[in-house]
Amino acid sequence: MHPRIPLIAMASVAVLSLAACGGGGGSDADPAAYPESEITLVVPFSAGGPTDTITRLVAKPMSEELGQQIVVQNVEGAGGTVASGQVADEDGDGYNMLVHHIGMSTAPALYPELPYDPLKDFKTIGLITDAPMTIVARKDFKPETLEELVSYVEDNADSVSIANAGVGAASQLCGLLFEQAIDVDLTEVPYDGTGPALTDLVGGKVDFMCDQSTNTVATIKSGDIKAYAVTTPERIDVLPDLPTTAEAGLPELELGVWHGFYVPADTPVEIVSKLTDALQVALKDQGVIDQMAKLGTTPVPLDQANPDAQTDKLEKQIDLWTPIIEEAGVKGE
Ligand code: MLT
Repeated sequence: MHPRIPLIAMASVAVLSLAACGGGGGSDADPAAYPESEITLVVPFSAGGPTDTITRLVAKPMSEELGQQIVVQNVEGAGGTVASGQVADEDGDGYNMLVHHIGMSTAPALYPELPYDPLKDFKTIGLITDAPMTIVARKDFKPETLEELVSYVEDNADSVSIANAGVGAASQLCGLLFEQAIDVDLTEVPYDGTGPALTDLVGGKVDFMCDQSTNTVATIKSGDIKAYAVTTPERIDVLPDLPTTAEAGLPELELGVWHGFYVPADTPVEIVSKLTDALQVALKDQGVIDQMAKLGTTPVPLDQANPDAQTDKLEKQIDLWTPIIEEAGVKGE
């Protein structure tokens, strides 16, 4: 339905579209009747990965509440910025939604030519979850603990590979923090998502990565990969033996991957309210709570599943990450 558009081309498309709608003027949608047909929800990473998994989990009860199907579409590329640019450019009629995570807040610093403004070109719907990251490796990788991993990487920086989901991905940010913490520069192997990256980690094609528990728990438990630490202040119930990064000697590496829903900026507030209400219903759903628990995460408290809380989070996270990324000198293409 939506062709992939190169970032450069999207830059001009986005400018034209903003000019056409006068910087956020409304749409033809009838908020009272909404939704009258299926809703497209764009996931900015590959199918089967952590963003996709959490999104599909929450989208199901949202669909039931709204009485219309939410159809997930995976639009990969450039660490989530291709998908974000696409949705920023869609009609604000409530039928085009985006899910994104912490990468929404790192993109402005990473991509100087970003063809959208995270704060101006979207309305927020609400936060969804704040997922832990795990530091994981192929099962036959030599280091057995985080401390050993640090020493090994320091001694073998030229040959160690770290997978991620591209510049702008949570895995890339976590890897960057790891590299900064121990002052090394590793060979990064980018994928369209950590779903395929995990497949290659299991296959022994890359050495290690940071990835959300929502993608790694089952594979850690099956023993197909090894895990060194979780990036949360406390251990997580689903992997009680896994130390936190602070316990394992790397307190600098604390990171939660917050997720939220977005719609184009000219979406009427009445439609946003209906989507927020549906999100709140989904996050109270016992099936969603139970499934998230099995994946090592939880729904956000309900007072964060609303536009104000998400916008506040986005603003604060842009302020937090921009100087860190600028100092690191990392840029996407
Ligand atoms: C990330 O690293 O940003 C995510 O794991 C991407 C994904 O959902 O595949």
